[in-house]
Amino acid sequence: MIERGDRYSRGAIAFHWSIAALVLLNLIIGLFHDAIPRAWGVMPIHKSLGIAVLVLTLGRIAWRLTHKPPHLPELLSAWEKATAHTVHLILYALLLILPVSGWLLSSNPERPRPINWFGLFEIPVLPATPTIAHNAHEAHELLGYLMTALVLIHIAAALRHHFLLRDKVLVRMLPGLRRNG
Ligand code: HEM
Repeated sequence: MIERGDRYSRGAIAFHWSIAALVLLNLIIGLFHDAIPRAWGVMPIHKSLGIAVLVLTLGRIAWRLTHKPPHLPELLSAWEKATAHTVHLILYALLLILPVSGWLLSSNPERPRPINWFGLFEIPVLPATPTIAHNAHEAHELLGYLMTALVLIHIAAALRHHFLLRDKVLVRMLPGLRRNG
């Protein structure tokens, strides 16, 4: 196990920002897909980005289990630390459940919509029944809103640390800076 430094490891930073960019894009496409003309073909992109998020998240979890993150600042109260850990845990769960529910809803045997990953190869549908696909559809929509709310809270918390508390919580997750230790 690699020891904690003052900053996140390069791998953790790379996983964080690549997943953050893909999730932001997918939330925007997902939330506005009804208003975007079908001819633009954004939903195949949404599906491909979602599968990429799933694969990256599995890699990120493996990384997280083998690399300890830096401690939260000691000045934070117990409830602030507990809230931060809870939000992070739910975000990890959503990073897995959202793509899988999207994959399941696209696997409805009554209306299968195979995923062609950025036009490179086809991803098979999952063995879903119409009921499972229907429930996955409901879950995908609901959890999409939950993810949007948590991402906004997460961003607000990072900005609070940087501009109000003036600690290193945001800076230690920024790329391009020299690692301590
Ligand atoms: C990080 C991953 C993902 C995020 C954040 C995400 C988010 C969303 C959101 C917010 C919506 C709009 C829900 C609504 O209000 O109607 C949506 C719709 C949709 N998503 Fe995803 N999604 C992800 C992954 C996937 C994947 C992997 C697939 C398929 C393989 C997928 C397939 C779909 C489909 C087909 C819809 C449209 C559902 C409908 O027609 O009502 N999504 N997604």
